[in-house]
Amino acid sequence: MLNNNNISKKYQIRILNIKKIIFRMRIFKKRGIILKIIAVGDIIGTSGVKELKNRLKKIKEEEKIDFTIVNGENSAEGMGITEKNFKDILEAGADVITMGNHTWGKKDIFKFIDNPKIIRPINYPEGVVGSGYRIYNCKNKKIAVINALGRVDINILTENPFLIIKKIVKNIKNTVDLIFIDFHAEATAEKVAMGNYLDGEVTAVFGTHTHIQTADERILPKGTGYITDIGMTGPKNSVIGMDIGASLKRFETALPERYKIAEGDCIFNAVIFEIEDETNKVKNIKRIYLGK
Ligand SMILES: [Fe+2]
Ligand SMILES: [Fe+2]
Repeated sequence: MLNNNNISKKYQIRILNIKKIIFRMRIFKKRGIILKIIAVGDIIGTSGVKELKNRLKKIKEEEKIDFTIVNGENSAEGMGITEKNFKDILEAGADVITMGNHTWGKKDIFKFIDNPKIIRPINYPEGVVGSGYRIYNCKNKKIAVINALGRVDINILTENPFLIIKKIVKNIKNTVDLIFIDFHAEATAEKVAMGNYLDGEVTAVFGTHTHIQTADERILPKGTGYITDIGMTGPKNSVIGMDIGASLKRFETALPERYKIAEGDCIFNAVIFEIEDETNKVKNIKRIYLGK
């Protein structure tokens, strides 16, 4: 038979248990990183695409990646992207493919440039086909990905990337949760400048194009995740993906020796951004360099 004392004890235990559950949930929420976004460095040629196919799915599983950005501007033997490359990179696990100075390297691109899974640098003159940014849905978040081309030591007459990005960010800021910038540029100073220019305005700025991964990943003072270059996915024994002999001949003779993709084993370069749910800010940046 239950008396009043037993009933109140039972309730006390129940309340204690509920309090424990709420406490655990709060701790979990505080620690909870819900979004992991990977950005993979420039895919170089057929061997780079193969390396992506071999590595990406496993990394996505192991790291519990939610969204994948891949730079594909060199996938067609160093210059541009074919329809086959486009399909292969998507099949390998990319959610969006970004481009760069080699965007128009293969005419094939005009067949699929309006596909929502590919973006080209935003600072081409107005009216140029394709889009410089797109917005994606992922785990109840809206993610904007913007691709832009630097102007220092890149011989393409693009518009000012700083001003264009700022304008776009202002327009979309209140309608998206996260903004990622693939800044495809040669000069480290231009890239660092872009990171600081957008600090506090976007989720992360990462560099592509030099094919050499930099070790300067960090969170800038106002909270934007930053790395100067995420590197490349392509032949290891090479000059930024190209055949060493052909490249050296160019430097030795100053003649326009034709570039060709190097052969042999590949490296896989990428960066993972961990995003905190409540703030939508980068909590951690992890560099990945496989096959060294
Ligand atoms: Fe490039
Ligand atoms: Fe590249």
